[in-house]
Amino acid sequence: AEDPRLKAITEAIRVVPHFPKQGIMFQDITTLLLDHKVFKDTIDIFVDRYKDMGISIVAGVEARGFFFGPSIALAIGSKFVPLRKPRKLPGRNITGAWYLGEVISEKYVLEYGSDCLEMHVGAVKPGDKAIVIDDLVATGGTLSAAISLLERGGAEVVECACVIGLSHFKDDCSVNGKPLYFLVEPR
Ligand code: PRP
Repeated sequence: AEDPRLKAITEAIRVVPHFPKQGIMFQDITTLLLDHKVFKDTIDIFVDRYKDMGISIVAGVEARGFFFGPSIALAIGSKFVPLRKPRKLPGRNITGAWYLGEVISEKYVLEYGSDCLEMHVGAVKPGDKAIVIDDLVATGGTLSAAISLLERGGAEVVECACVIGLSHFKDDCSVNGKPLYFLVEPR
């Protein structure tokens, strides 16, 4: 039988038609964050799944992966690593000067245009076992970039986890060869 918590999670996500543009049914998880029980249930489901797997790194995708990742990391005793949009982490060589930290970047294609995620060199190490967390997987492009960053850092990516997954992932529940786990589908 389906976990009864999942129905409440689905219902706590506000669907906003035509945001940020015509035709998009935006899945707004800020309403889930306002419901303490549902928010806690969401975190607990991930924690129960990952607590005994020797996960050393929870990597969260900017911005909405940051709402879920740190709570999971603290509960399972792992580190939290932010995967950020360009030029947010110190260390980027913009002007020809290198700052103290260094970052690695991974570009990915979006429906319109492209974007990029960055991670600090040294945030993960060979031998680390990582999961990637985000609020939603649509095409999987963002998660693919996240997986590449972690693997370039030497980490093993055990699984990608999202609150919401599009139904076309139901049959092949993987991204870039890595298992994909999600709690609910969009309404
Ligand atoms: C959204 C969402 C995921 C990504 C999923 O983030 O939070 O990170 O898109 O799409 P994909 O599976 O097709 O790659 P967005 O790029 O809107 O960034 P934001 O969270 O910073 O607003």
